[in-house]
Amino acid sequence: MSGFVVWFTGLSGAGKSTLGAMLAAELRTRGVHVEVLDGDEVRTHLSKGLGFSREDRDTNVRRIGFVAKLVARSGACAITGAISPFRAIRDEQRAAIGRFVEVYCCASIDALADRDPKGLYRKALAGEIKGFTGIDDPYEPPASPEVTVYTDRESKEESLAKIVGKLEELGYVPAAKGNTTAVRAKQTSTLLARPHGGELVLRAAAPGLREMLAERARSRTVIDLDAEAEVDIDLLATGALSPLKGFLGEKDFLRVAREMRLENGLPWPVPITLAVSEEAALLLQIGAEAALRARDGRIVAVIEVNDLYRPKVALAGRTLAGPLGDVDPDLARHEARGPVLVGGEVHVIEPVRRAEPSVHDPATTRAMLATRGFVTVAGIRTRTLPRRAEEHLAKVALEVTGGLWIQAIEALEGERGPEAASLSTRLRCHEVLVERYFPVERVVLSAGLPARFGGGRQAVLDAIVCQNHGCSHAILVGSTYAGGVSGAERAFRVYAPGELGVVPLCFEDAFHSTRTNSMATSRSAPGDASTWITATEAEILAMITRGQAPPPEVLRREVAEVLAAEPRSRP
Ligand code: ADX
Repeated sequence: MSGFVVWFTGLSGAGKSTLGAMLAAELRTRGVHVEVLDGDEVRTHLSKGLGFSREDRDTNVRRIGFVAKLVARSGACAITGAISPFRAIRDEQRAAIGRFVEVYCCASIDALADRDPKGLYRKALAGEIKGFTGIDDPYEPPASPEVTVYTDRESKEESLAKIVGKLEELGYVPAAKGNTTAVRAKQTSTLLARPHGGELVLRAAAPGLREMLAERARSRTVIDLDAEAEVDIDLLATGALSPLKGFLGEKDFLRVAREMRLENGLPWPVPITLAVSEEAALLLQIGAEAALRARDGRIVAVIEVNDLYRPKVALAGRTLAGPLGDVDPDLARHEARGPVLVGGEVHVIEPVRRAEPSVHDPATTRAMLATRGFVTVAGIRTRTLPRRAEEHLAKVALEVTGGLWIQAIEALEGERGPEAASLSTRLRCHEVLVERYFPVERVVLSAGLPARFGGGRQAVLDAIVCQNHGCSHAILVGSTYAGGVSGAERAFRVYAPGELGVVPLCFEDAFHSTRTNSMATSRSAPGDASTWITATEAEILAMITRGQAPPPEVLRREVAEVLAAEPRSRP
Protein backbone atom coordinates (compact mmCIF):
# COMPACT_ATOMS: atom_id res chain seq x y z
CA MET A 1 0.00 0.00 0.00
CA SER A 2 1.40 3.43 -0.81
CA GLY A 3 1.74 6.10 1.79
CA PHE A 4 -0.17 9.28 2.37
CA VAL A 5 -0.31 12.31 4.63
CA VAL A 6 -3.19 13.37 6.84
CA TRP A 7 -2.61 17.07 7.40
CA PHE A 8 -4.54 18.52 10.30
CA THR A 9 -4.89 22.28 10.34
CA GLY A 10 -6.79 24.59 12.67
CA LEU A 11 -6.38 26.93 15.58
CA SER A 12 -4.60 26.06 18.80
CA GLY A 13 -6.81 23.82 20.91
CA ALA A 14 -9.10 22.87 18.02
CA GLY A 15 -8.45 19.15 18.50
CA LYS A 16 -5.61 18.42 16.06
CA SER A 17 -3.55 16.40 18.57
CA THR A 18 -6.48 14.54 20.07
CA LEU A 19 -7.98 13.51 16.76
CA GLY A 20 -4.49 12.81 15.37
CA ALA A 21 -3.81 10.37 18.24
CA MET A 22 -7.20 8.72 17.85
CA LEU A 23 -6.72 8.42 14.11
CA ALA A 24 -3.26 6.93 14.58
CA ALA A 25 -4.65 4.28 16.92
CA GLU A 26 -7.46 3.46 14.50
CA LEU A 27 -5.19 3.19 11.46
CA ARG A 28 -2.69 0.99 13.27
CA THR A 29 -5.45 -1.51 13.86
CA ARG A 30 -5.92 -1.72 10.12
CA GLY A 31 -2.31 -2.59 9.59
CA VAL A 32 -1.26 0.90 8.47
CA HIS A 33 2.13 2.01 9.73
CA VAL A 34 1.67 5.48 11.19
CA GLU A 35 4.01 8.26 12.30
CA VAL A 36 2.59 11.26 14.12
CA LEU A 37 4.22 14.68 13.77
CA ASP A 38 2.38 16.56 16.46
CA GLY A 39 2.74 20.35 16.31
CA ASP A 40 3.79 20.89 19.92
CA GLU A 41 6.13 17.94 19.88
CA VAL A 42 7.84 19.02 16.66
CA ARG A 43 8.60 22.37 18.24
CA THR A 44 10.59 20.64 20.98
CA HIS A 45 13.07 19.05 18.55
CA LEU A 46 12.73 19.37 14.74
CA SER A 47 11.79 23.04 15.03
CA LYS A 48 13.37 23.87 18.35
CA GLY A 49 14.31 27.53 18.54
CA LEU A 50 11.77 28.71 16.00
CA GLY A 51 9.29 31.36 17.08
CA PHE A 52 5.95 32.46 15.72
CA SER A 53 6.87 35.08 13.13
CA ARG A 54 5.46 34.41 9.68
CA GLU A 55 8.90 33.31 8.52
CA ASP A 56 9.43 30.92 11.43
CA ARG A 57 5.97 29.42 11.06
CA ASP A 58 6.58 28.83 7.35
CA THR A 59 9.90 27.15 8.13
CA ASN A 60 8.24 25.00 10.77
CA VAL A 61 5.48 23.92 8.43
CA ARG A 62 7.89 23.23 5.58
CA ARG A 63 10.02 21.04 7.85
CA ILE A 64 6.98 19.09 8.93
CA GLY A 65 5.95 18.74 5.29
CA PHE A 66 9.40 17.49 4.37
CA VAL A 67 9.44 14.77 7.03
CA ALA A 68 5.82 13.84 6.29
CA LYS A 69 6.72 13.41 2.64
CA LEU A 70 9.54 11.02 3.51
CA VAL A 71 7.24 9.02 5.76
CA ALA A 72 4.60 8.78 3.01
CA ARG A 73 7.24 7.86 0.44
CA SER A 74 8.28 4.93 2.63
CA GLY A 75 4.73 3.60 2.37
CA ALA A 76 3.51 4.77 5.75
CA CYS A 77 0.95 7.32 6.86
CA ALA A 78 2.14 10.60 8.36
CA ILE A 79 -0.28 12.51 10.54
CA THR A 80 0.67 16.13 11.11
CA GLY A 81 -0.84 18.45 13.66
CA ALA A 82 0.55 21.98 13.38
CA ILE A 83 -1.68 25.05 13.18
CA SER A 84 -0.13 25.70 9.76
CA PRO A 85 -2.02 28.98 9.43
CA PHE A 86 -1.11 29.95 5.88
CA ARG A 87 -2.97 28.48 2.93
CA ALA A 88 -0.17 28.96 0.43
CA ILE A 89 2.34 26.97 2.45
CA ARG A 90 -0.15 24.15 3.03
CA ASP A 91 -0.91 24.06 -0.68
CA GLU A 92 2.80 23.93 -1.36
CA GLN A 93 2.98 20.77 0.80
CA ARG A 94 -0.04 19.32 -0.95
CA ALA A 95 1.64 19.78 -4.33
CA ALA A 96 4.91 18.27 -3.12
CA ILE A 97 3.33 15.30 -1.36
CA GLY A 98 0.52 14.26 -3.69
CA ARG A 99 -1.50 11.90 -1.51
CA PHE A 100 -2.48 14.65 0.89
CA VAL A 101 -5.63 14.69 2.98
CA GLU A 102 -6.30 18.04 4.57
CA VAL A 103 -8.43 17.92 7.71
CA TYR A 104 -9.67 21.27 8.90
CA CYS A 105 -10.46 21.33 12.63
CA CYS A 106 -12.99 24.10 12.78
CA ALA A 107 -14.13 25.62 16.07
CA SER A 108 -15.26 29.11 16.93
CA ILE A 109 -12.80 31.39 18.69
CA ASP A 110 -15.34 31.76 21.48
CA ALA A 111 -15.44 28.01 22.06
CA LEU A 112 -11.66 27.77 21.97
CA ALA A 113 -11.18 30.70 24.30
CA ASP A 114 -13.68 29.12 26.69
CA ARG A 115 -12.03 25.73 26.53
CA ASP A 116 -8.47 27.08 26.64
CA PRO A 117 -6.71 24.08 28.26
CA LYS A 118 -3.29 25.71 28.04
CA GLY A 119 -4.56 29.10 29.21
CA LEU A 120 -3.04 30.69 26.10
CA TYR A 121 -6.17 32.41 24.77
CA ARG A 122 -6.63 34.14 28.09
CA LYS A 123 -3.07 35.43 27.92
CA ALA A 124 -3.40 36.40 24.25
CA LEU A 125 -6.64 38.27 24.89
CA ALA A 126 -4.98 40.05 27.81
CA GLY A 127 -2.14 41.05 25.48
CA GLU A 128 0.41 38.93 27.34
CA ILE A 129 1.17 36.90 24.20
CA LYS A 130 1.55 38.87 21.00
CA GLY A 131 0.86 37.51 17.54
CA PHE A 132 -1.36 34.66 18.70
CA THR A 133 -3.08 32.84 15.87
CA GLY A 134 -6.76 33.70 15.67
CA ILE A 135 -6.47 36.62 18.08
CA ASP A 136 -3.96 39.05 16.59
CA ASP A 137 -2.32 36.87 13.96
CA PRO A 138 -4.07 35.46 10.88
CA TYR A 139 -5.41 31.99 10.27
CA GLU A 140 -6.40 31.21 6.71
CA PRO A 141 -8.90 28.33 6.61
CA PRO A 142 -8.52 25.86 3.76
CA ALA A 143 -10.61 26.59 0.67
CA SER A 144 -11.51 22.96 -0.04
CA PRO A 145 -10.20 20.57 2.58
CA GLU A 146 -10.92 16.86 2.14
CA VAL A 147 -12.60 16.84 5.54
CA THR A 148 -13.91 19.55 7.86
CA VAL A 149 -14.62 18.55 11.43
CA TYR A 150 -16.54 20.89 13.72
CA THR A 151 -14.90 20.16 17.02
CA ASP A 152 -17.02 22.59 19.00
CA ARG A 153 -20.20 20.76 17.94
CA GLU A 154 -19.36 17.17 17.04
CA SER A 155 -18.34 14.40 19.39
CA LYS A 156 -14.81 13.13 18.96
CA GLU A 157 -16.15 9.88 17.62
CA GLU A 158 -18.21 11.66 14.98
CA SER A 159 -15.17 13.65 13.86
CA LEU A 160 -12.96 10.59 13.80
CA ALA A 161 -15.55 8.63 11.85
CA LYS A 162 -15.70 11.39 9.21
CA ILE A 163 -11.94 11.33 8.73
CA VAL A 164 -11.67 7.55 8.60
CA GLY A 165 -14.65 7.44 6.25
CA LYS A 166 -12.87 9.81 3.87
CA LEU A 167 -9.69 7.74 3.93
CA GLU A 168 -11.73 4.63 3.14
CA GLU A 169 -13.50 6.43 0.32
CA LEU A 170 -10.19 7.57 -1.16
CA GLY A 171 -8.97 3.99 -0.96
CA TYR A 172 -6.03 5.00 1.24
CA VAL A 173 -6.99 2.59 4.01
CA PRO A 174 -8.79 -0.70 3.79
CA ALA A 175 -12.41 -0.51 4.88
CA ALA A 176 -13.14 -2.16 8.17
CA LYS A 177 -15.04 -5.40 7.88
CA GLY A 178 -18.80 -5.10 8.13
CA ASN A 179 -20.31 -1.71 8.75
CA THR A 180 -18.64 1.57 8.01
CA THR A 181 -16.74 3.17 10.85
CA ALA A 182 -19.39 5.80 11.40
CA VAL A 183 -22.22 3.29 11.62
CA ARG A 184 -20.21 1.00 13.87
CA ALA A 185 -19.30 3.81 16.26
CA LYS A 186 -22.90 4.89 16.54
CA GLN A 187 -24.21 1.40 17.12
CA THR A 188 -21.60 0.45 19.66
CA SER A 189 -21.41 3.54 21.81
CA THR A 190 -24.73 2.64 23.41
CA LEU A 191 -23.70 -0.98 23.95
CA LEU A 192 -20.50 -0.31 25.90
CA ALA A 193 -20.65 -0.73 29.67
CA ARG A 194 -22.54 2.20 31.19
CA PRO A 195 -20.53 4.39 33.56
CA HIS A 196 -20.82 3.65 37.30
CA GLY A 197 -24.06 5.24 38.49
CA GLY A 198 -25.39 5.45 34.93
CA GLU A 199 -23.87 8.59 33.41
CA LEU A 200 -20.43 10.11 33.01
CA VAL A 201 -20.30 12.94 35.50
CA LEU A 202 -17.83 15.48 34.18
CA ARG A 203 -16.84 18.16 36.66
CA ALA A 204 -14.90 20.24 34.15
CA ALA A 205 -16.87 23.48 34.17
CA ALA A 206 -18.82 24.20 31.01
CA PRO A 207 -16.76 26.36 28.65
CA GLY A 208 -18.95 29.42 29.12
CA LEU A 209 -18.56 29.25 32.90
CA ARG A 210 -14.82 28.97 33.26
CA GLU A 211 -13.97 32.63 32.91
CA MET A 212 -16.63 33.55 35.45
CA LEU A 213 -15.47 30.89 37.91
CA ALA A 214 -11.85 31.96 37.55
CA GLU A 215 -12.87 35.54 38.18
CA ARG A 216 -14.88 34.60 41.27
CA ALA A 217 -12.13 32.33 42.56
CA ARG A 218 -9.79 35.32 42.79
CA SER A 219 -11.64 36.63 45.82
CA ARG A 220 -12.09 33.27 47.57
CA THR A 221 -10.16 31.61 50.36
CA VAL A 222 -7.52 29.38 48.86
CA ILE A 223 -6.97 25.70 49.60
CA ASP A 224 -3.67 24.23 48.53
CA LEU A 225 -3.91 20.84 46.84
CA ASP A 226 -1.49 18.02 47.55
CA ALA A 227 -0.30 15.51 44.94
CA GLU A 228 -3.19 13.14 45.65
CA ALA A 229 -5.90 15.80 45.48
CA GLU A 230 -4.41 17.18 42.25
CA VAL A 231 -4.88 13.81 40.58
CA ASP A 232 -8.42 13.54 41.97
CA ILE A 233 -9.29 16.94 40.50
CA ASP A 234 -8.29 15.76 37.04
CA LEU A 235 -10.11 12.47 37.48
CA LEU A 236 -13.24 14.30 38.62
CA ALA A 237 -12.96 16.77 35.74
CA THR A 238 -13.00 14.03 33.12
CA GLY A 239 -15.59 11.75 34.71
CA ALA A 240 -13.15 8.96 35.61
CA LEU A 241 -14.60 8.97 39.13
CA SER A 242 -18.24 9.07 38.02
CA PRO A 243 -20.65 9.52 39.67
CA LEU A 244 -18.70 11.53 42.26
CA LYS A 245 -19.17 15.27 41.96
CA GLY A 246 -16.44 16.27 44.36
CA PHE A 247 -14.72 15.40 47.62
CA LEU A 248 -16.65 13.30 50.11
CA GLY A 249 -18.50 14.87 53.00
CA GLU A 250 -18.62 13.21 56.42
CA LYS A 251 -21.66 11.01 55.83
CA ASP A 252 -20.33 9.62 52.60
CA PHE A 253 -16.87 9.27 54.15
CA LEU A 254 -18.14 7.23 57.07
CA ARG A 255 -20.28 4.98 54.97
CA VAL A 256 -17.48 4.42 52.47
CA ALA A 257 -15.07 3.66 55.33
CA ARG A 258 -17.42 1.24 57.05
CA GLU A 259 -19.46 -0.26 54.23
CA MET A 260 -17.74 0.64 51.00
CA ARG A 261 -20.84 2.49 49.85
CA LEU A 262 -21.86 6.08 49.35
CA GLU A 263 -24.60 7.50 51.51
CA ASN A 264 -27.09 6.73 48.70
CA GLY A 265 -26.07 3.06 48.80
CA LEU A 266 -24.10 3.00 45.57
CA PRO A 267 -20.90 0.94 45.80
CA TRP A 268 -17.85 3.13 46.35
CA PRO A 269 -14.68 1.70 47.80
CA VAL A 270 -12.16 4.45 48.55
CA PRO A 271 -12.75 7.77 50.32
CA ILE A 272 -11.87 10.54 47.86
CA THR A 273 -10.97 13.38 50.18
CA LEU A 274 -9.53 16.84 50.37
CA ALA A 275 -7.36 17.25 53.45
CA VAL A 276 -6.27 20.56 55.00
CA SER A 277 -4.45 21.71 58.12
CA GLU A 278 -6.27 23.05 61.20
CA GLU A 279 -5.03 26.57 60.34
CA ALA A 280 -6.36 26.35 56.79
CA ALA A 281 -9.67 24.95 58.07
CA LEU A 282 -10.15 27.98 60.32
CA LEU A 283 -10.45 30.18 57.23
CA LEU A 284 -13.10 28.01 55.59
CA GLN A 285 -16.81 28.35 56.01
CA ILE A 286 -19.56 25.89 55.30
CA GLY A 287 -21.77 27.23 52.53
CA ALA A 288 -19.00 29.37 51.06
CA GLU A 289 -16.95 28.68 48.00
CA ALA A 290 -13.17 28.18 48.15
CA ALA A 291 -10.57 28.23 45.41
CA LEU A 292 -8.36 25.17 44.87
CA ARG A 293 -4.74 25.94 44.05
CA ALA A 294 -2.41 23.50 42.32
CA ARG A 295 1.15 23.21 43.56
CA ASP A 296 2.39 25.30 40.63
CA GLY A 297 0.29 28.23 41.85
CA ARG A 298 -2.61 28.06 39.38
CA ILE A 299 -6.17 28.20 40.64
CA VAL A 300 -7.60 25.13 38.94
CA ALA A 301 -11.00 24.62 40.52
CA VAL A 302 -13.51 25.85 43.06
CA ILE A 303 -15.23 23.82 45.75
CA GLU A 304 -18.61 24.56 47.29
CA VAL A 305 -17.69 23.74 50.87
CA ASN A 306 -20.56 21.86 52.47
CA ASP A 307 -18.73 19.92 55.14
CA LEU A 308 -15.68 20.25 57.37
CA TYR A 309 -14.90 17.25 59.53
CA ARG A 310 -12.15 15.45 61.36
CA PRO A 311 -12.13 11.76 60.44
CA LYS A 312 -10.35 10.97 63.67
CA VAL A 313 -13.22 12.46 65.65
CA ALA A 314 -15.85 11.09 63.30
CA LEU A 315 -14.53 7.60 63.73
CA ALA A 316 -13.58 7.84 67.42
CA GLY A 317 -15.10 5.22 69.65
CA ARG A 318 -16.62 3.37 66.74
CA THR A 319 -15.19 0.43 65.01
CA LEU A 320 -12.72 1.39 62.37
CA ALA A 321 -12.96 -1.94 60.70
CA GLY A 322 -14.61 -1.82 57.32
CA PRO A 323 -16.21 -4.75 55.54
CA LEU A 324 -12.76 -6.10 54.85
CA GLY A 325 -12.23 -6.74 58.52
CA ASP A 326 -9.32 -4.41 59.05
CA VAL A 327 -8.50 -0.75 58.86
CA ASP A 328 -7.90 0.06 55.28
CA PRO A 329 -4.54 1.71 54.57
CA ASP A 330 -6.42 4.41 52.70
CA LEU A 331 -7.87 5.60 55.98
CA ALA A 332 -4.51 5.75 57.70
CA ARG A 333 -3.10 8.04 55.04
CA HIS A 334 -5.57 10.79 55.85
CA GLU A 335 -3.71 11.39 59.07
CA ALA A 336 -0.58 12.23 57.15
CA ARG A 337 -2.35 14.53 54.72
CA GLY A 338 -4.07 16.82 57.22
CA PRO A 339 -6.46 16.46 60.13
CA VAL A 340 -9.46 18.20 58.59
CA LEU A 341 -11.34 17.03 55.53
CA VAL A 342 -13.31 19.36 53.28
CA GLY A 343 -16.36 17.96 51.53
CA GLY A 344 -18.13 19.53 48.59
CA GLU A 345 -18.79 19.57 44.88
CA VAL A 346 -16.05 20.89 42.66
CA HIS A 347 -16.05 22.77 39.38
CA VAL A 348 -12.81 22.40 37.53
CA ILE A 349 -11.61 25.49 35.69
CA GLU A 350 -8.59 23.95 34.03
CA PRO A 351 -6.89 20.57 34.36
CA VAL A 352 -3.90 20.32 36.68
CA ARG A 353 -1.95 18.19 34.23
CA ARG A 354 -1.29 19.57 30.80
CA ALA A 355 -3.15 17.58 28.15
CA GLU A 356 -0.98 14.95 26.49
CA PRO A 357 -2.02 13.18 23.31
CA SER A 358 -1.45 9.72 24.80
CA VAL A 359 -3.73 10.37 27.79
CA HIS A 360 -7.30 9.65 26.77
CA ASP A 361 -10.13 10.75 29.03
CA PRO A 362 -13.14 8.46 29.54
CA ALA A 363 -15.22 10.09 26.79
CA THR A 364 -12.38 9.81 24.28
CA THR A 365 -11.64 6.24 25.30
CA ARG A 366 -15.30 5.33 24.92
CA ALA A 367 -15.26 6.88 21.45
CA MET A 368 -12.18 4.88 20.51
CA LEU A 369 -13.66 1.63 21.81
CA ALA A 370 -16.96 2.32 20.07
CA THR A 371 -15.20 3.11 16.81
CA ARG A 372 -13.69 -0.35 16.93
CA GLY A 373 -17.10 -1.90 17.38
CA PHE A 374 -16.26 -3.51 20.73
CA VAL A 375 -19.10 -4.33 23.05
CA THR A 376 -17.17 -6.18 25.74
CA VAL A 377 -13.77 -4.80 26.67
CA ALA A 378 -11.30 -5.91 29.33
CA GLY A 379 -9.40 -3.02 30.86
CA ILE A 380 -6.10 -3.15 32.67
CA ARG A 381 -4.63 -0.18 34.50
CA THR A 382 -1.03 -1.21 34.71
CA ARG A 383 1.71 0.26 36.83
CA THR A 384 4.56 -1.96 35.62
CA LEU A 385 6.55 -2.87 32.56
CA PRO A 386 4.72 -5.18 30.20
CA ARG A 387 6.41 -8.46 31.01
CA ARG A 388 5.42 -11.81 29.59
CA ALA A 389 3.32 -12.11 32.75
CA GLU A 390 1.12 -9.09 31.96
CA GLU A 391 0.95 -10.12 28.31
CA HIS A 392 -0.29 -13.55 29.30
CA LEU A 393 -3.00 -12.27 31.65
CA ALA A 394 -4.20 -9.69 29.13
CA LYS A 395 -4.49 -12.44 26.54
CA VAL A 396 -6.42 -14.69 28.89
CA ALA A 397 -8.93 -11.84 29.16
CA LEU A 398 -8.93 -11.32 25.40
CA GLU A 399 -10.11 -14.89 25.03
CA VAL A 400 -13.46 -13.81 26.46
CA THR A 401 -13.86 -10.12 25.53
CA GLY A 402 -14.05 -8.34 22.21
CA GLY A 403 -11.36 -5.81 22.98
CA LEU A 404 -8.57 -4.96 25.36
CA TRP A 405 -7.90 -1.53 26.82
CA ILE A 406 -4.46 -1.02 28.33
CA GLN A 407 -3.95 2.08 30.41
CA ALA A 408 -0.35 2.62 31.48
CA ILE A 409 -0.32 4.62 34.69
CA GLU A 410 2.15 5.72 37.31
CA ALA A 411 2.14 5.37 41.04
CA LEU A 412 1.17 8.49 42.90
CA GLU A 413 3.99 10.90 43.56
CA GLY A 414 5.85 9.82 46.68
CA GLU A 415 4.89 6.18 46.13
CA ARG A 416 7.09 5.75 43.10
CA GLY A 417 10.20 3.64 43.65
CA PRO A 418 13.48 4.98 42.26
CA GLU A 419 13.87 1.70 40.37
CA ALA A 420 10.68 2.16 38.32
CA ALA A 421 10.69 2.81 34.57
CA SER A 422 9.19 6.13 33.47
CA LEU A 423 5.68 6.25 32.07
CA SER A 424 6.86 7.23 28.60
CA THR A 425 9.29 4.32 28.53
CA ARG A 426 6.60 1.90 29.62
CA LEU A 427 4.22 3.27 27.04
CA ARG A 428 6.82 2.67 24.35
CA CYS A 429 7.29 -0.89 25.64
CA HIS A 430 3.55 -1.51 25.46
CA GLU A 431 3.46 -0.14 21.91
CA VAL A 432 6.18 -2.47 20.76
CA LEU A 433 4.59 -5.43 22.48
CA VAL A 434 1.13 -4.73 21.11
CA GLU A 435 2.41 -4.18 17.57
CA ARG A 436 4.33 -7.41 17.56
CA TYR A 437 2.44 -9.83 19.79
CA PHE A 438 -1.21 -8.79 19.93
CA PRO A 439 -3.99 -8.62 17.35
CA VAL A 440 -3.58 -4.83 17.10
CA GLU A 441 -7.14 -4.30 15.94
CA ARG A 442 -8.37 -5.60 19.27
CA VAL A 443 -6.25 -3.36 21.49
CA VAL A 444 -6.48 0.29 22.52
CA LEU A 445 -3.50 1.67 24.41
CA SER A 446 -3.57 4.86 26.48
CA ALA A 447 -1.68 6.57 29.25
CA GLY A 448 -3.55 7.65 32.35
CA LEU A 449 -3.27 9.70 35.49
CA PRO A 450 -1.39 8.27 38.46
CA ALA A 451 -3.21 6.00 40.90
CA ARG A 452 -2.82 5.29 44.60
CA PHE A 453 -1.51 2.05 45.96
CA GLY A 454 -3.92 0.26 48.19
CA GLY A 455 -5.58 -3.00 49.03
CA GLY A 456 -8.77 -4.59 47.86
CA ARG A 457 -10.58 -1.28 47.93
CA GLN A 458 -8.18 0.12 45.36
CA ALA A 459 -8.81 -2.93 43.18
CA VAL A 460 -12.51 -2.06 43.20
CA LEU A 461 -11.72 1.56 42.39
CA ASP A 462 -9.51 0.49 39.48
CA ALA A 463 -12.40 -1.62 38.19
CA ILE A 464 -14.81 1.32 38.44
CA VAL A 465 -12.37 3.59 36.61
CA CYS A 466 -12.13 0.95 33.86
CA GLN A 467 -15.92 0.81 33.69
CA ASN A 468 -16.13 4.58 33.38
CA HIS A 469 -13.80 4.33 30.39
CA GLY A 470 -16.19 1.84 28.77
CA CYS A 471 -14.87 -1.52 29.98
CA SER A 472 -17.12 -4.46 30.80
CA HIS A 473 -14.30 -6.36 32.54
CA ALA A 474 -11.33 -5.29 34.65
CA ILE A 475 -8.08 -7.21 34.84
CA LEU A 476 -6.71 -7.01 38.38
CA VAL A 477 -3.34 -8.53 39.11
CA GLY A 478 -2.77 -9.63 42.69
CA SER A 479 0.67 -8.19 43.25
CA THR A 480 -0.61 -4.70 42.42
CA TYR A 481 -2.63 -4.65 45.62
CA ALA A 482 -1.74 -4.94 49.27
CA GLY A 483 -3.46 -8.13 50.30
CA GLY A 484 -2.98 -9.74 46.89
CA VAL A 485 -5.66 -11.51 44.89
CA SER A 486 -7.54 -12.78 47.91
CA GLY A 487 -7.78 -9.23 49.27
CA ALA A 488 -9.14 -8.02 45.95
CA GLU A 489 -11.62 -10.88 45.70
CA ARG A 490 -12.79 -10.26 49.23
CA ALA A 491 -13.44 -6.60 48.41
CA PHE A 492 -15.60 -7.47 45.42
CA ARG A 493 -17.60 -9.91 47.52
CA VAL A 494 -18.85 -6.98 49.59
CA TYR A 495 -21.26 -6.28 46.74
CA ALA A 496 -24.09 -8.41 45.44
CA PRO A 497 -23.57 -9.81 41.95
CA GLY A 498 -24.50 -7.21 39.35
CA GLU A 499 -24.19 -4.25 41.71
CA LEU A 500 -21.09 -3.23 39.84
CA GLY A 501 -21.38 -2.84 36.10
CA VAL A 502 -17.95 -4.32 35.56
CA VAL A 503 -16.77 -7.90 35.97
CA PRO A 504 -13.54 -8.24 37.95
CA LEU A 505 -11.00 -10.70 36.58
CA CYS A 506 -8.67 -11.21 39.55
CA PHE A 507 -5.43 -12.95 38.69
CA GLU A 508 -2.47 -14.24 40.60
CA ASP A 509 0.84 -13.08 39.15
CA ALA A 510 1.91 -15.02 36.09
CA PHE A 511 5.30 -16.61 35.47
CA HIS A 512 6.92 -19.10 33.14
CA SER A 513 6.55 -22.61 34.47
CA THR A 514 9.42 -24.94 33.72
CA ARG A 515 7.09 -27.86 34.45
CA THR A 516 4.64 -26.99 31.67
CA ASN A 517 6.99 -24.89 29.57
CA SER A 518 4.32 -22.20 29.30
CA MET A 519 2.99 -19.12 31.06
CA ALA A 520 0.90 -19.96 34.10
CA THR A 521 -0.01 -18.85 37.59
CA SER A 522 0.11 -20.63 40.93
CA ARG A 523 -3.52 -21.51 40.32
CA SER A 524 -2.91 -23.32 37.06
CA ALA A 525 0.63 -24.69 37.22
CA PRO A 526 1.85 -27.82 38.96
CA GLY A 527 5.10 -27.52 40.89
CA ASP A 528 6.37 -25.16 43.55
CA ALA A 529 8.04 -21.78 43.20
CA SER A 530 11.36 -23.37 42.28
CA THR A 531 9.79 -24.18 38.89
CA TRP A 532 8.79 -20.59 38.19
CA ILE A 533 10.83 -18.21 36.07
CA THR A 534 9.95 -14.63 36.90
CA ALA A 535 11.53 -11.25 37.71
CA THR A 536 10.25 -7.97 39.06
CA GLU A 537 10.47 -4.70 37.18
CA ALA A 538 13.34 -3.57 39.43
CA GLU A 539 15.25 -6.80 38.77
CA ILE A 540 14.71 -6.46 35.03
CA LEU A 541 15.94 -2.87 35.02
CA ALA A 542 18.98 -3.86 37.08
CA MET A 543 19.82 -6.55 34.52
CA ILE A 544 19.51 -4.09 31.66
CA THR A 545 21.72 -1.59 33.48
CA ARG A 546 24.35 -4.30 33.88
CA GLY A 547 24.13 -4.96 30.15
CA GLN A 548 22.54 -8.33 30.78
CA ALA A 549 19.59 -9.57 28.70
CA PRO A 550 16.55 -10.50 30.83
CA PRO A 551 15.43 -14.12 30.30
CA PRO A 552 13.12 -14.37 27.28
CA GLU A 553 10.65 -16.24 29.49
CA VAL A 554 10.27 -13.05 31.51
CA LEU A 555 10.49 -10.27 28.95
CA ARG A 556 10.12 -10.14 25.16
CA ARG A 557 13.37 -9.30 23.42
CA GLU A 558 11.75 -6.32 21.65
CA VAL A 559 10.73 -4.82 24.98
CA ALA A 560 14.21 -5.37 26.41
CA GLU A 561 15.60 -3.52 23.40
CA VAL A 562 13.40 -0.51 24.10
CA LEU A 563 14.62 -0.46 27.69
CA ALA A 564 18.26 -0.84 26.68
CA ALA A 565 17.96 2.10 24.27
CA GLU A 566 16.30 4.32 26.86
CA PRO A 567 18.56 6.88 28.52
CA ARG A 568 18.29 6.50 32.28
CA SER A 569 19.52 8.66 35.08
CA ARG A 570 20.06 5.59 37.22
CA PRO A 571 23.76 4.68 37.59
S1 ADX B 1 2.52 26.95 13.45
O1 ADX B 1 1.87 28.25 13.25
O2 ADX B 1 3.96 27.01 13.27
O3 ADX B 1 1.89 25.90 12.63
P1 ADX B 1 2.49 25.22 15.75
O4 ADX B 1 1.32 24.31 15.54
O5 ADX B 1 3.84 24.69 15.45
O6 ADX B 1 2.21 26.60 14.97
O7 ADX B 1 2.51 25.72 17.27
C1 ADX B 1 1.33 26.18 17.84
C2 ADX B 1 1.36 26.00 19.33
O8 ADX B 1 2.33 26.85 19.90
C3 ADX B 1 0.04 26.40 19.92
O9 ADX B 1 -0.81 25.30 20.14
C4 ADX B 1 0.43 27.06 21.21
O10 ADX B 1 0.53 26.07 22.24
C5 ADX B 1 1.83 27.56 21.01
N1 ADX B 1 1.96 29.01 20.73
C6 ADX B 1 2.80 29.84 21.39
N2 ADX B 1 2.75 31.07 20.87
C7 ADX B 1 1.87 31.05 19.85
C8 ADX B 1 1.39 32.03 18.92
N3 ADX B 1 1.84 33.29 18.95
N4 ADX B 1 0.48 31.66 18.01
C9 ADX B 1 0.02 30.39 17.99
N5 ADX B 1 0.44 29.42 18.82
C10 ADX B 1 1.36 29.73 19.75
